[in-house]
Amino acid sequence: MDNFEYQNFTRIVFGKGEVSKVGKVVRPFGSNILLVTGKESLKKSGLYQRVRDWLEEEGITVADLDGVQPNPLLSIVHDGIRIIKDQGIQVVLALGGGSVMDTAKAVAAGAAMEQGDVWDFFTRRRTVEKALPVITVPTLAASGSEMNGFMVITDEESKHKLSTGSPHLYPKVSILDPTTTYTVPADYTAYGGVDAVCHLLEPYFNGPDPNTPLQDRMAEGLIRTIMDATEACIKSPEDYESRATMMWASSLALCGLTKAGVGAHHFPVHLIEHAVSVLFFVAHGEGLAALLPGWMTWWAQDHPKKTSQLGERIWGISGKDISEKSEAGIDALRSWFDSIGCPKNLSDIGIRAEDHVRLAENAVFQAEIWGISGTYSVENIKTVLAYCQS
Ligand code: NZQ
Ligand code: ZN
Repeated sequence: MDNFEYQNFTRIVFGKGEVSKVGKVVRPFGSNILLVTGKESLKKSGLYQRVRDWLEEEGITVADLDGVQPNPLLSIVHDGIRIIKDQGIQVVLALGGGSVMDTAKAVAAGAAMEQGDVWDFFTRRRTVEKALPVITVPTLAASGSEMNGFMVITDEESKHKLSTGSPHLYPKVSILDPTTTYTVPADYTAYGGVDAVCHLLEPYFNGPDPNTPLQDRMAEGLIRTIMDATEACIKSPEDYESRATMMWASSLALCGLTKAGVGAHHFPVHLIEHAVSVLFFVAHGEGLAALLPGWMTWWAQDHPKKTSQLGERIWGISGKDISEKSEAGIDALRSWFDSIGCPKNLSDIGIRAEDHVRLAENAVFQAEIWGISGTYSVENIKTVLAYCQS
């Protein structure tokens, strides 16, 4: 097990009906807030108005930044920063999925800058030193943004989707009320399950430390739980226990706890998926499903131990040699993606072999920022993409 430091800065308020406390949770941080939301799902469900009423009961004034789209854009972050500066906003409240929460984080960090552009954080020209307080009310179990210091934004000019992180980007408080996710449709429920499983598998495979029995079991236990809960939520969208399990498991999947001690690692499937999302407007979890089995096949050629261990521990695959178990495990994951209505490869989402160069050239920009373009060069990313094609 590698040395590590672990600290999570987010207070979690979890459970049925807890969203009604949003006014009381926000008020200690300020009474003039920016409310960041998506397009129309929460207005349709009535949750948006209920949150507005709860905020008003506590005498909180609200400016809206709404219309955040999946794979959120830098332009709306700039709009939010302008509103904060014009109206002396004190707190940023996110009500929505990962795209909304990440937009809220970027606006909160950008508004606290004395000089420069918020995009400097994503190209690593600057690091986040401070941010306005962010409070999140996630309404979709997927990204884990409600309990970590990461954010992912797309610059539609340069066509790059980049991630960055800082301890200053952790939400101060996150209210996780599973009933807010009842209205998530089957496709985004499935994409959320894939995203959370991928958050666990990338450190599981890429962590360099060979002795991580505790981290392996934590990841494997969460993966099995997320798979069962995803299926249950698709079957019965208003099953509280499944939605609650899904919500808490997806927060735990990327809060840093399960990967503490695995050693320095990256997220290569996310690296390539961000290029897929920005060039082909694919939902994040959908893109991951199309890439993960192919990347695992490429990876397992030289590192079959963990893919074979995954096959054994998640699907009970036994009695074969390590590479056969590894292959059977990858096949089992592919079939699970299929069973929840997700793509299993790039052709399933309309991407062709002739698109690989464009994707690789886009992805290598983030690889250079992450310092992994030695392994994830254009050539090697093209090789990985070929494994993901069909
Ligand atoms: O915009 P509305 O109309 O609200 O609809 C949204 C959106 O279309 C809908 N939705 C959200 N809550 C709902 C709901 N529909 C019905 N009922 C509800 N309760 O879901 C759609 C997708 O929303 P989005 O926020 O894009 O999904 P998700 O939560 O999967 O977030 C994906 C984003 O998170 C980033 C991804 O890159 C992507 O941009 N990630 C952030 C991470 C982080 N900060 O740690 C890590 C992740 O790996 C991920 O990269
Ligand atoms: Zn993700």
